[in-house]
Amino acid sequence: MSDSIKIAVIGGDGTGPEVTAEACKVLEAVSPLEGITYERVDFDYGGDRYLATGEVITERQIDELRRFDAIYLGAIGHPDVTPGILEKGLLLAIRFQLDQYVNLRPIKLYPGVETPLKDKGPDDISFEVVRENTEDLYCGAGGFLRKNTPQEVATQEMIATRFGVDRCLRYAFELCRRRKDKMQLTLVHKTNVLTYAANLWERAFHEMGAEYPDVTRDYNHVDAACMWFVKNPEYYDTVVVPNMFGDIITDIGAMIQGGLGVSAGGNINPDPGGCSMFECMGGSAPKYTGQNVINPIAAIAAMGMLLSVLGEQNGLANLSRASQRVESAIRATTPKMRSMSAGRMGYTTTEVGDLVATAL
Ligand code: IPM
Ligand code: MG
Repeated sequence: MSDSIKIAVIGGDGTGPEVTAEACKVLEAVSPLEGITYERVDFDYGGDRYLATGEVITERQIDELRRFDAIYLGAIGHPDVTPGILEKGLLLAIRFQLDQYVNLRPIKLYPGVETPLKDKGPDDISFEVVRENTEDLYCGAGGFLRKNTPQEVATQEMIATRFGVDRCLRYAFELCRRRKDKMQLTLVHKTNVLTYAANLWERAFHEMGAEYPDVTRDYNHVDAACMWFVKNPEYYDTVVVPNMFGDIITDIGAMIQGGLGVSAGGNINPDPGGCSMFECMGGSAPKYTGQNVINPIAAIAAMGMLLSVLGEQNGLANLSRASQRVESAIRATTPKMRSMSAGRMGYTTTEVGDLVATAL
């Protein structure tokens, strides 16, 4: 990584560009405070471009993204594009081709944010989910037999490789150690039914765990984890989970932390020189497009994650400090907002961005 960080920005569809603008505003405001220089290049990938050209993103264009230090993604999803085309063609394609094998989802309740969980506060809801991001049911392995006949067979294969599982576990154990919280790593799977894939995960988990005697190893079946996320979120510190179950439980996580308006995620390639992509979970929210009412907090938090991950991975303390500033500024802003829902924040999208930028 050179002195100036290179960020590829894909605003995407719907409200994506609006929240991205606020995240970039915060980046611009925090950079001089920590002596950060960056170069930002915008790309117009998304629904409109697909409708105009018939192409989502080519392999060559993804290769072009690889040359950046990080990618920032607003949102994808277009009302005139069949669901799945952009998700698979852009989001999953980038995750897979850039080998972003960890999907990191912090589940934290910011101060003043309402959670649907009765009697739970920011101290109770503060954990991180490490979701494997390149294997499992997401590989696209499977097929049809006798398609469109009454005897049709469809298979979709759950793939777990020792290599893929180990590298994800490594990230999770290291993260758990860095967090210095409860020093507990919970593996979430379904060992009572998925006796091959879950068994591989379980063996790999305990073998690697021997290298981390300071980390308590814990295990939840995925269905039980869905219950405990809701009933006892304070129980969790770091959670590690395969791709499909991770997709599901992180949506529960997003809801208990106050909704999609506040939840951010990173698609991380932790290897040296790896290019990671950061996104807010909210989606493109077409009905709110152009109204300046959508909540940019998740998008700003995703920018904070970008700084934190790049700082950590490259040993750049100023980036880490900048990410902490963003985090504190978010914490100073959320209590001022009436709600986290679009149109009910008591502020416009740009005003929330201004509040965070000022709080830096
Ligand atoms: C997520 C999303 C994606 C996924 C979709 C949009 C393909 O739900 O990032 O959690 O399933 O991974
Ligand atoms: Mg999901």
